[in-house]
Amino acid sequence: MIVKVDGLVKRYGRLVALDYLNFEVKEGEIFGLLGPNGSGKTTAINCILSLLKYDKGTIEIFGKKMGPDKYDIKRDIGIIMQNVAVFDELTVYENIYYFCSLYINDKEKIKEYTEEAISFVSLEEYKKFYPKKLSGGLLRRLNIACGIVHKPKLIILDEPTVAVDPQSRNKILEGIKLLNEQGATVIYTSHYMEEVEQICDKIAIIDKGKVVAQGTKDELKAMISIGEKITIETYQITEEQIMIIRELPNVISVIYDNNQLEIKSGRGKNNLLQVLHYMENNKIAFGKVFTQLPTLNDVFLEITGKELRD
Ligand SMILES: Nc1ncnc2c1ncn2[C@@H]1O[C@H](COP(=O)(O)OP(=O)(O)O)[C@@H](O)[C@H]1O
Ligand SMILES: [Mg+2]
Repeated sequence: MIVKVDGLVKRYGRLVALDYLNFEVKEGEIFGLLGPNGSGKTTAINCILSLLKYDKGTIEIFGKKMGPDKYDIKRDIGIIMQNVAVFDELTVYENIYYFCSLYINDKEKIKEYTEEAISFVSLEEYKKFYPKKLSGGLLRRLNIACGIVHKPKLIILDEPTVAVDPQSRNKILEGIKLLNEQGATVIYTSHYMEEVEQICDKIAIIDKGKVVAQGTKDELKAMISIGEKITIETYQITEEQIMIIRELPNVISVIYDNNQLEIKSGRGKNNLLQVLHYMENNKIAFGKVFTQLPTLNDVFLEITGKELRD
């Protein structure tokens, strides 16, 4: 086990930010901590890293108890914080070099690692730039390079793609996959379910400081009752006809809003055909039709009763 969080409780005054949080991260995984803003992701990361005191619980990293003075553990961790932390007085190259030199002694090796980290985040053209001259996406990439330059075994990234352009976002996600393929274990926090679905092997969904569900994305989706969502564009359906569709076999719910008829069906069965037959037989004209498999948002919605999105 690379990380083991057991019964973690953290209060800020009267606010309970972490409420007996539990999860385990195995070697070689990309582990996703998925939760809405304010669910406790950053607090959890800060406790795991011993940057923040907590009220209860235990944290083990690499099989050893973690603590503020466990430098041997810290050396093997790369941290990419939610708030970019680089030196404005240093160039891109100098920043990465500096962070590397905190961990590595050999000068040649520092240079080599610095170059590798620069090409890893594709900042070759910006080596001599100062952070203030970089766009948000490039600055994030610099922040990541500083966090991974010493080749840590465990890499923790806290919402690394917030306010990042799509090109940088893809670079970041591809980079995380690559680091993982090269052997690093990764903890990735986000409130974007698409990203977590895209790159994470294991996912813990957190809400109000508690893990409400965890597993692979397929395991999570199998936990919920809906199988598929059908959306049909129609302008002339009556309340009565909607009631009849609601009564069709294997239909879980029907919502009609904004000329969109959204039908959720039970797991394993597709009832698109019977719905379309019903509409044809009753001369209900319809436009675009599409179906969607459940998303992690559906899982979150079913478990907590609210949307993952802000
Ligand atoms: N330093 C702090 N003092 C008081 N409350 C805090 C502090 N940091 C975070 N919180 C609160 O703790 C909860 C969890 O916050 P946080 O860990 O930042 O969540 P997330 O990273 O998932 O957005 C939120 O309700 C937040 O307002
Ligand atoms: Mg946060």
